[in-house]
Amino acid sequence: WPRVATVSAAVRTLTSRITVRDAVAATSTREDVSVLGWVKNMRKQKELVFIDLNDGSTAARLQVVAPSNLLRGVHLNVGCSVVAKGKIVPVSLASQDVELAASQVQLLGTCDPKKYPFKRGKIHGVEYLRQFPHLRPQTGVFSRVLRLRSAATMAVHRFFQDRGFINFHTPIISSSDCEGAGELFEIRPSQAAEDEKRFFSTDAFLTVSGQLHAEAVTSGMSAVYTFGPTFRAEKSHTKRHLSEFYMVEAETVLHGSGLSELLCLVEDLYKHTLEVLLKDNYDDINYFHETICSDEAKISILNSIERPFARMTYSEAMDELENAASKNSFHTQPQWGDDLQRDHELHLLSVTGQLPVFITDFPAAIKPFYARTLDSDTNIVSSVDLLVPGVGEVVGGSVREERETVLRDRLTRLGLLEKYQWYLDLRRFGTVPHGGFGLGFERLLQAFLGVADIRDVIPFPRYLGSCQM
Ligand code: 4AD
Repeated sequence: WPRVATVSAAVRTLTSRITVRDAVAATSTREDVSVLGWVKNMRKQKELVFIDLNDGSTAARLQVVAPSNLLRGVHLNVGCSVVAKGKIVPVSLASQDVELAASQVQLLGTCDPKKYPFKRGKIHGVEYLRQFPHLRPQTGVFSRVLRLRSAATMAVHRFFQDRGFINFHTPIISSSDCEGAGELFEIRPSQAAEDEKRFFSTDAFLTVSGQLHAEAVTSGMSAVYTFGPTFRAEKSHTKRHLSEFYMVEAETVLHGSGLSELLCLVEDLYKHTLEVLLKDNYDDINYFHETICSDEAKISILNSIERPFARMTYSEAMDELENAASKNSFHTQPQWGDDLQRDHELHLLSVTGQLPVFITDFPAAIKPFYARTLDSDTNIVSSVDLLVPGVGEVVGGSVREERETVLRDRLTRLGLLEKYQWYLDLRRFGTVPHGGFGLGFERLLQAFLGVADIRDVIPFPRYLGSCQM
């Protein structure tokens, strides 16, 4: 093993390749470096050419200064890719500016400025950028989204790893409809018109949630999490719905405090991830706060770190909504037993002063079969939704029904007993109190950045009516 370390160190010193992020952070001169990136801007003087280069590693641009003769006959435009070699020189220590004094600039890829959809010096709107999902990673604003997505992903992993949760991969192809909502994408082999059901010998779907598999793994591993794509064939054309989205799902045995243990976990995860972004990716996240967030929205984002989340039961929420209904004109009249609607969620968030709020203890009839009923009232299940300002529901979770007889009765009533024998087995062989939650990763990013449309926080959005590329 020491040999491997030596070799990789040697490779690092041999290749003088550095990123723009490393280059702009240099505090002293570095000879013979090589930086590869795309031209974001350029100016020509008689003797010199100034090229602003970015490679996606940071929002900053590295100024490359090259003698004009190095680029004689080269058609360099915004959007071209180049590799520049030379010396990194701190220009002024006070302003921490750095430039690359180039001894060589090689054009790698041309870019026709007339046809390139992104114009020099212009800030394009998100709707415009959405037309070019394949090219928008080249823009400053979308590269910020991608860096924040990456940093938030790592923060989520760190959070769970530090708490001893084991990561595992849930299947993408599943024969279960975890949420029981029937919003499934069916999978069939493309050329099997006659044999279409024989491939798996059962119906197969893209997974809507890894929860049931997470429960199986928790039943031997105690605390697990998964973070992968999930799919919903919902016919919802809103700014918060995608057909393919990423979900962070945690499942854990519970040591006696039930749902409140899950609420603490969710709140800690939320705060931890936001804190990491503000600490390690301040420039990127602050860009969104400064450009698209109202002062109120900024305060509510900070409040979500500094103040404890609000909590209310579904019944308390309904009381509030029913009282408010006399003064507000909700699209749907709030009624105990019905799901919360969007304008109901917004009203509840206004009541909490734009602080995230956990709504707990929902009617059993509107939650899936796996949620555990309360010992004190079998019409209510120990479940939770987390509502967040600007977005609405970001997390859904529950304590799971761990009692074999209760679960068997419920599955029998729903006609699911045969299909979910394996799930019932988890209650027959060493059942434990357990629970978990699913957090919509794109909605979380929307909340952290203040981005209104979910399609602007995922690289390649799939939604009703659109599966580009
Ligand atoms: O509330 P949901 O449906 O919960 C479950 O799927 C549970 N089985 C999760 C679990 O307990 N392991 O979905 C969880 C979260 C929602 O709160 C929302 O943030 C997100 O997933 N979500 C969507 N995000 C984008 N587009 C959609 N169509 C979404 N549907 C749900």
